[in-house]
Amino acid sequence: MSDFISWVSTHQSRFEEVLKRLLPQADAMPQRLHAAMRYSVLDGGKRVRPLLAYAAGELSGAPVERVEIAAAAVELIHAYSLVHDDMPCMDDDVLRRGKPTCHVEYDEATALLVGDALQSLAFQLLSEHRLNDDAARQLQMVKLLAVASGSRGMAGGQAIDLASVGKQLSLPELEQMHIHKTGALIRAAVLLGAQCGAENNRGNLTQAQLDKLDRFGKCMGLAFQVVDDVLDSEADTATLGKTAGKDADNNKPTYVTLLGVAEAKKMAAELHRDALDALTEFGAAARRLRELADFIVMRKY
Ligand code: IPE
Ligand code: IPE
Ligand code: MG
Ligand code: MG
Ligand code: MG
Repeated sequence: MSDFISWVSTHQSRFEEVLKRLLPQADAMPQRLHAAMRYSVLDGGKRVRPLLAYAAGELSGAPVERVEIAAAAVELIHAYSLVHDDMPCMDDDVLRRGKPTCHVEYDEATALLVGDALQSLAFQLLSEHRLNDDAARQLQMVKLLAVASGSRGMAGGQAIDLASVGKQLSLPELEQMHIHKTGALIRAAVLLGAQCGAENNRGNLTQAQLDKLDRFGKCMGLAFQVVDDVLDSEADTATLGKTAGKDADNNKPTYVTLLGVAEAKKMAAELHRDALDALTEFGAAARRLRELADFIVMRKY
């Protein structure tokens, strides 16, 4: 097993335990909501955002116990976005992470509440655990996730996505949609991981280095969704663990509809290169971030 694969599986297993501990127990009142929250978050998903946070934390020398709280907050927002994304009023999907979607397994009202409760829990975690020695800096981290999740971030991108059904977008418009709906949380995962722990909000990084990391996060966030569009058109349902061909069925503008598969792949490769360029000065310390970037563009699911 390669060193990277073993790093990934060690961190995925470790993170699963973190999530199990932080989520409300399924037998606690209200049991059905708590069971549905655990169903939607646990036992599935690649955990790309948490892995990016761990890798960014390694780069800045942040304590892992703090990084994984920030990583959990981002993953809970991501899981909530998936639960809502799959609902009949949005993408209307029945399969997610190889299991029936939350509203199919439970019901629509429960799926709505799962999203609400996961979002609240994310911010509860960021505010009840010490993530940075400086409380004012920690508050900035809370704001960073709030902006990345809201109308100027993921939720805003989802609104653009829904308003774009059946339309042909220009390349800059499509880029804006993807940067928001997917890029914002990926960028937040990198930045939060890097900022956990030290006396200031930068770990041992300078502002200029944090800006480089931000550039890495932006490029990989966009690349992630370009690849998601390609996989939707090329991969099969069993491999993806979600319904393949759903974008075409739902008349969504994607990088594939706009550019074709070959050009979309080229675009992902260019973004990958730009992302790696942003890491140059970090040398060996950014090794895991580089490997994750490679994984994001080469993944098959
Ligand atoms: C899927 O994200 C939705 C997008 C933002 C493209 P992931 O591909 O990270 O989904 P999981 O978490 O691995 O299931
Ligand atoms: C989802 O984009 C983005 C968010 C959930 C915020 P997609 O709708 O393409 O994600 P999948 O393909 O259903 O995972
Ligand atoms: Mg969608
Ligand atoms: Mg979808
Ligand atoms: Mg998709």
